[in-house]
Amino acid sequence: RKKIILDLDTGIDDTLALSYVLASPEAELIGITGTYGNVVRDRGVANDLDLLSLFGRDDIPVFKGIDHPSTTDSFRVPPDSEIFHGANGTGNIEIPAHSTRQAETVGSVDFIIDSVRRHAKGELVVVPTGALTSIAAALEKAPDIIDKITIVLMGGSLTQPGNVGPFAEANINQDPEAADRVFSTQADITMIGLDVTTQVLMSREDTRALRSIGTEQGRFLADMTDYYIDISEKESGIYLGGCNLHDPLAAAVAIDPTLVTTFATNLMVETEGPQRGRTIGDPSRLLDPVKRTKVALGVDSERFTRRFMDRLLTLAAG
Ligand code: BDR
Ligand code: CA
Repeated sequence: RKKIILDLDTGIDDTLALSYVLASPEAELIGITGTYGNVVRDRGVANDLDLLSLFGRDDIPVFKGIDHPSTTDSFRVPPDSEIFHGANGTGNIEIPAHSTRQAETVGSVDFIIDSVRRHAKGELVVVPTGALTSIAAALEKAPDIIDKITIVLMGGSLTQPGNVGPFAEANINQDPEAADRVFSTQADITMIGLDVTTQVLMSREDTRALRSIGTEQGRFLADMTDYYIDISEKESGIYLGGCNLHDPLAAAVAIDPTLVTTFATNLMVETEGPQRGRTIGDPSRLLDPVKRTKVALGVDSERFTRRFMDRLLTLAAG
């Protein structure tokens, strides 16, 4: 089974990504590392612990990552994130379980480093779905892991407008400097950006199916996702008929890379001016014969969304 570490800013679609991995028989979640973004780190970690308890998986350890961007001393949740994910990260729907567990005393950075060292290349995939600060710190603290780590991240955009500005996607925008440092390494990175995540939707019909199972897990996932669908439509002014499954797609590709087609290139992140937070080809590595980052540009939406819903329904059935 493929070993997975989720680096979450939990978050509605982060919750759905976690649910998907827990419901995937060919994956083993070996730990959750908490970052910041949709919520402050400690809120995200508390959500992770409660969610694991809700799904009866108190055996999975949770770690705390760095709680603020590399260029500032503190972090405040951007107003947009609070609107999209609610003040508590789960659409103002309370998680119907309360964990008495704490996060581990070792931090995310060391857990990621140790885990990469302990596994053969390709056995473990790290899936960041929030700010990349701790991932950058791990690669810097232990450069020996750069050749061994596999990263499938949700973030960025190459062909679509940004979602927190004309160019920037939210996760990259939380810490563009850290994201730039991650892309500048030789690490094996697949970028699941808005190019593909805007192609995969969860609909109100899907949430109805989850609710009709009649369990508290099903009701919680349905209520939380309905909040996300409503707010996505309200904010965009477009009837989408659903919400984007940003983070679940990254988790799914980590487990099954055949869900997307990719374009290999060398990326950088703009850190200055009005394009701050933009992911774009790195002109200084344009002629480099080795193209490091696989950017997903095509997705088998039907195969993914069918599998996603099948698994969520099974998980919610308990
Ligand atoms: C990303 O930003 C966060 O709001 C979501 O959880 C997702 O990781 C989408 O741009
Ligand atoms: Ca996220």
